[in-house]
Amino acid sequence: MDNDGATKIIIHADERIAPINPNIYGHFIEHLGGCIYDGIWVGPDSNIPNANGIRLDVVDALKKIKVPVIRWPGGCFADTYRWQDGIGPRDKRPVRLNIWWGGEEPNAFGSHEFFQLCDMLNAEAYICCNVGSGTPAQMMDWVEYLNSESTTTTITKLRAKNGHPEAFGFRLLGVGNESWGCGGNMTPQQYANEFSKFATFISAPNSQYMIKIASGANGDDYDWTRRFLDTISGRACGCKQSRLPLVRGYAFHYYCGTAGTSTKFTELQWYELLEKALYIEEILLRHRTIMDEFDPQRHIELICDEWGTWHPAESLDARKRCMQQSTLRDAVVAALTLDIFNRHADKITMANIAQMVNVLQSMILTDGSKMVVTPTYHVYEMYAPHQAGTAVPLRITTSKITRDADRTRPHKILDSVMGSCSIKGDQLTLSIVNINPKKYADVDVDIRGVSTAGLKQWRVLTGDIHAHNTFEAPDTIKPTEKPTTDKKLLLDPSSVNVFTYDLGST
Ligand code: AHR
Repeated sequence: MDNDGATKIIIHADERIAPINPNIYGHFIEHLGGCIYDGIWVGPDSNIPNANGIRLDVVDALKKIKVPVIRWPGGCFADTYRWQDGIGPRDKRPVRLNIWWGGEEPNAFGSHEFFQLCDMLNAEAYICCNVGSGTPAQMMDWVEYLNSESTTTTITKLRAKNGHPEAFGFRLLGVGNESWGCGGNMTPQQYANEFSKFATFISAPNSQYMIKIASGANGDDYDWTRRFLDTISGRACGCKQSRLPLVRGYAFHYYCGTAGTSTKFTELQWYELLEKALYIEEILLRHRTIMDEFDPQRHIELICDEWGTWHPAESLDARKRCMQQSTLRDAVVAALTLDIFNRHADKITMANIAQMVNVLQSMILTDGSKMVVTPTYHVYEMYAPHQAGTAVPLRITTSKITRDADRTRPHKILDSVMGSCSIKGDQLTLSIVNINPKKYADVDVDIRGVSTAGLKQWRVLTGDIHAHNTFEAPDTIKPTEKPTTDKKLLLDPSSVNVFTYDLGST
């Protein structure tokens, strides 16, 4: 196999972009397909080892990737969710139709179970409330149930009766989901007004510190962002009154979709999907630029609370809805995306890949008692050292990949090697992806601004571009270590690499 010529990486270790919010490595679970039921919740009577119904094999695996935050209960499901259905004795909880994803919702997994999962993973809770079909009063009651430190109101007494006298305490509140679509098919102006109303009534004691997150644009719909901000800031009507301070977060969604299917794709389709994934950088920058016009001090956090690949359905069964295999290609999508988020740590504070188990670009697949981790899971495990590090700038000079294809969008020339870098204490973490499936990349890393930088570890995830793990062959693709003694860093074709350096003083 060919070598793709020299790649030069210059790291400015004495400069800083911003701290990397660990929540950039966040997750999302929804009452969709096998995500909650089977994937996370099996019930206390299951033969599958569990803690009060939450399966332990899944939790043990997730602990290794250091889940910082989990968004729940949706997604589209959130705008149909009645929170009261998910509390109290499980055998008395109502069974409802899941109008978005098919099948029936038993409500066995509700607020208490969600917070138990967060506790087990030491993860922050991010609740998405029902704006589309709910009311501010229902949302107020839910926030009181979860956050109020009172023990004497009717709602907090109910919480105690259900086994949790203390407040659960959460900070991140999503005000609806995809309001432009399944969240109510609203216009940005209409949603801005709904947002203000809901955000105003989140007034239970101790809720002042809450980060109220607006449901933002679909991908590159910059018009939505502008119109939402125009309305809520009062600019559109020339009003003196600005409701902008109510907004503490603004969350867009971007699914890069597919090219081919999850496991069947050509080399051209490999590049096609990577290019679509890389588009998130432009989307992020352009939303931030519009936000900066209205909020130059960046009081409003930019968030991407759904992202990932979305391949054609593999099953028509509602319990397997949106379940897809994940190959090395998905892992490379994850790595490139996380590198983009790291490099823009000054602009984005949270991102939640969709979804954690059995749905879309998941970390884990389950089938009854069987469980397997995906290549995307391995990227999250390898990239965990970036969490809470400080992003530092790097400049990569590398070869370009050009290709001729029948295209509907402008063709972009892709860099062969991309990555990001962070420093935590005296450790520098450098992640680099070689997207070329045919050529090695010969890399020279020049770390500037420190007296010494000794390579301590080099981990790599690589294989055939279609490689994936199955219940029968769970270790087909997993990280391996490379020797750190070689002077030359020769990246494997189609590989995700994480280098750890011990630093001298900056
Ligand atoms: O993640 C699956 C679905 O994708 C979510 O429910 C919705 O918000 C998005 O369209």
